[in-house]
Amino acid sequence: MSRPDLGIIGAGRVGTALARLAMRSGYRVFLANSRAPESLKLVAEVLTPGATPVTAGEAASRGGLVILALPIRRFRALPVEELAAKVVVDAMNYLPEEDGIFADVEEDSRSSSEIVQGFLTRSRVVKALNHVGYGELEEESLPGIEGRRAFALAGDDPAAKRAIAELISDLGFDSLDAGPLSEGWRFEPGTPAFGGRYTASGLRRALDAATR
Ligand SMILES: NC(=O)c1ccc[n+]([C@@H]2O[C@H](COP(=O)([O-])OP(=O)(O)OC[C@H]3O[C@@H](n4cnc5c(N)ncnc54)[C@H](OP(=O)(O)O)[C@@H]3O)[C@@H](O)[C@H]2O)c1
Repeated sequence: MSRPDLGIIGAGRVGTALARLAMRSGYRVFLANSRAPESLKLVAEVLTPGATPVTAGEAASRGGLVILALPIRRFRALPVEELAAKVVVDAMNYLPEEDGIFADVEEDSRSSSEIVQGFLTRSRVVKALNHVGYGELEEESLPGIEGRRAFALAGDDPAAKRAIAELISDLGFDSLDAGPLSEGWRFEPGTPAFGGRYTASGLRRALDAATR
């Protein structure tokens, strides 16, 4: 089966773990940080052999799917033009203890992924891959098996959500459609789903149990 190329913007803990898992399933990965690709050469050689270091703009334009794995306080630096019309996975979280107080999210009543979608107006944003610790990704991945750990996804575009459900399955997890992007708050930090290990049925109950 042919798979879309994957752009990953953010080459830290979660970006590199996702890159390795995706390459294991046959995805070609274009990986970017905030700097020139040369700054990623060693990371790519050691942590993500096979991934191509590129600029963030190139990761956006070369990826058929693009994962945002950078600190949310940097989201306004994203390459808006190159991300236009793309399916974009928002794996970012707002964690004041890590990110510091970030007024753009703190003072906005929308969920963080709605804020990102409001910035990337021409992209199809799907919130996913945010509620798992990076170390668990490779430990718990079970490609081709049913009834495994499930990840939620939320978004407004059904085709984009189907594409991300396939990606999640290739990464070795089940997925659960949590509804439109406005429902993404149900698996933000502080909810039962965030960091919880659930199969799809347990995850559904955790999403339902979330309170604002
Ligand atoms: N850690 C986890 O277990 C986990 C799991 C799920 C989701 N997340 C979320 O994923 C995001 C990243 O977390 P992390 O733990 O992987 O962070 P991290 O280890 O600190 O890595 C952050 C990466 O983002 C890059 N970056 C920063 N600003 C950028 C920009 N303007 N353009 C492109 N790349 C940029 C950094 O590159 P430079 O070196 O160039 O700054 C670095 O490669 C956060 O929002 C976090 O909440 C984390």
